Amino acid sequence: MEKLVVILLVLPLFCNGQTVDQTIQPHARGEDVVDAVIGRIRSSCILSDDKYFMKRIAAVETDYGKNSSPNNGGIWKVTNNILNSVINSCQTTTRTICNEILQTFNFDISKATFLQMDVPLYSGLTMYTYITNTITNIPTSSHSQALLWQAHIRPTGNTNMFIAKSSISFSCSAVKMELVFAIDASGSVGSDNFNSTLIFLTNVVRKLQIAPDMTRVAVIRFSHIATISFDLDTYYSVSSMTSKISSIKYTGGGTATYSAIDTARINVFKKARKNVPKVFVLVTDGYSNDKDLTVKAADTLKQNATTIFTIGVGSVNHQEMLAVASSPNCIHYYSLNSYSEIDGIISEIQRESCEAPVEVDMTSGLVNDTEIDNNPIPSGNETKTQTVHIQSSNTTDNSQNMTKVKVAVICGIVQVYASNTFKKPSAAFHAYSAIAIDGKPGWVQSAANQILFLSFFSRKRFDLATSACTHPHYNISINPPDEGVKIICKENGIARECTRNDITQSFGPLCGDDNIPNPCTKTNILNNIMRFKHPKSTTKYIQFLPRIALYTTAQIHAP
Ligand SMILES: *[C@@H]1O[C@H](CO)[C@@H](O)[C@H](O)[C@H]1NC(C)=O
Ligand SMILES: *[C@@H]1O[C@H](CO)[C@@H](O)[C@H](O)[C@H]1NC(C)=O
Ligand SMILES: *[C@@H]1O[C@H](CO)[C@@H](O)[C@H](O)[C@H]1NC(C)=O
Ligand SMILES: *[C@@H]1O[C@H](CO)[C@@H](O)[C@H](O)[C@H]1NC(C)=O
Ligand SMILES: *[C@@H]1O[C@H](CO)[C@@H](O)[C@H](O)[C@H]1NC(C)=O
Ligand SMILES: *[C@@H]1O[C@H](CO)[C@@H](O)[C@H](O)[C@H]1NC(C)=O
Ligand SMILES: *[C@@H]1O[C@H](CO)[C@@H](O)[C@H](O)[C@H]1NC(C)=O
Repeated sequence: MEKLVVILLVLPLFCNGQTVDQTIQPHARGEDVVDAVIGRIRSSCILSDDKYFMKRIAAVETDYGKNSSPNNGGIWKVTNNILNSVINSCQTTTRTICNEILQTFNFDISKATFLQMDVPLYSGLTMYTYITNTITNIPTSSHSQALLWQAHIRPTGNTNMFIAKSSISFSCSAVKMELVFAIDASGSVGSDNFNSTLIFLTNVVRKLQIAPDMTRVAVIRFSHIATISFDLDTYYSVSSMTSKISSIKYTGGGTATYSAIDTARINVFKKARKNVPKVFVLVTDGYSNDKDLTVKAADTLKQNATTIFTIGVGSVNHQEMLAVASSPNCIHYYSLNSYSEIDGIISEIQRESCEAPVEVDMTSGLVNDTEIDNNPIPSGNETKTQTVHIQSSNTTDNSQNMTKVKVAVICGIVQVYASNTFKKPSAAFHAYSAIAIDGKPGWVQSAANQILFLSFFSRKRFDLATSACTHPHYNISINPPDEGVKIICKENGIARECTRNDITQSFGPLCGDDNIPNPCTKTNILNNIMRFKHPKSTTKYIQFLPRIALYTTAQIHAP
């Protein structure tokens, strides 16, 4: 009988170039699509912060599109009245916005038709423009938003139903991050407002998983000088941290914001773990003593791979706050009328900081192999989102001029989405994707001279033996060393090129998830177990050969 031996040499399977954009696909639906639409609109900075109002409306009106029907206004159930109001405002109050939308999204709202609302992006843009035109200042609480929704969008709507259906949930568990707050204790703030800031800090910290290998938090208090209230390695429990926060004293004095930013960079972030997201949140109420110094200090911090959020309360200098915040600054700057509103942005700050990116700078072209290792996966069944931005260049020192990213997982499933243009790629919007399961890494690659944005959605697997699951995690390797990318086939002792059929039969479809795990695990290799029965055929074997062995002892027998 003929014996076919398929020899597997750790093969990265790139499933690239299948650009997915559900935001412009009529009738696409689901929370992913809603998030992608809002994400695209918000990162364009054409329309301002909606404080989750758009997401809540999508949840309430159509359950994220799941209850929408064709030609009925799409995910946001845009009515004829709303559409006409927006078309009219394009000639007057929202002329600039409509023009910018045309430039950025190639959608001419001023000539929009009701049928076009079936396209998620168009339904979203129309509703967003309507809200911006009718509501000058969107409040943060879902209760206040429910009243506005009833007043401007759905007069027959039930506000209790709005509140019940529109709770926003997300997971901050198993997040590794260095989170540093700088809080303004200057004279203009006053002790009551300073107290509100402390309560805000307490509420933000409560939802985080504080631990030496997870999220670490530091607080800097500043007025004319900056003082570290506690450092990244001072407290490793929420209770000790919140009790310290409540004892931070108000001082009064000037507003040396640059000094707080420099203290963060020079004294606090110097302890940051390698390749862990660094997040700086500035809470202030006024003009800094020196705008130029402040913006310069912020630029230096941003260049050092740190994401900056600014929360400006009251009569702040908006230009300064926008210049300090990370780009796109409309997403990273929160403008509040008073400290009483600060509670309303707790979940936004939690979510945005928990998903802040690891910034990997490979522009020097010298780095071949960057590891972002031991990314924990939540122990429950929630899905964690991690983002990584890779700034690469065409001088990157690898032979193919490609940025290649590998993700390997233990006890979990990691879905990877990547894009060269959109900072938060997802199932609904991406250019590249891959999936990793135990023993079967996922790969994505893109041209090296383009910035690459990646999202990793991970969750634990509950179908594996518990021994594999004591420490569910995944590792991300950027441009890992060549692991030997070859499959060869030997039939009756004679080597030949593998046909696509050989490979498909052995490993399932070339791209995507299949049910045949790659047997060549590290453990198997270390134990010298390198031959495996073919899962689907009695006349075939799979044999793993380390790369070196291929060229020295090409002697393969079926066991
Ligand atoms: C801060 O506010 C809390 C709750 O409103 C109050 O119990 C506490 O006394 C306040 N602390 C200061 C210093 O005002
Ligand atoms: C950038 O940050 C790292 C730690 O994350 C620190 O070691 C380094 O000194 C910083 N560079 C500058 C210019 O501050
Ligand atoms: C990067 O990898 C190439 C081979 O792929 C090697 O020649 C080069 O020395 C490596 N560069 C560094 C900085 O390790
Ligand atoms: C998964 O989450 C659901 C709630 O969303 C919960 O009812 C269920 O018990 C969880 N399962 C596990 C294995 O944690
Ligand atoms: C790399 O790209 C930059 C612009 O993207 C270009 O100016 C430069 O010539 C390129 N270098 C090489 C070696 O191709
Ligand atoms: C990589 O880019 C450089 C500069 O653009 C070019 O000279 C070289 O041939 C490219 N290498 C490959 C393998 O495409
Ligand atoms: C991840 O990297 C660590 C070393 O940093 C290693 O111990 C672990 O086995 C790796 N996990 C996977 C899934 O490759």
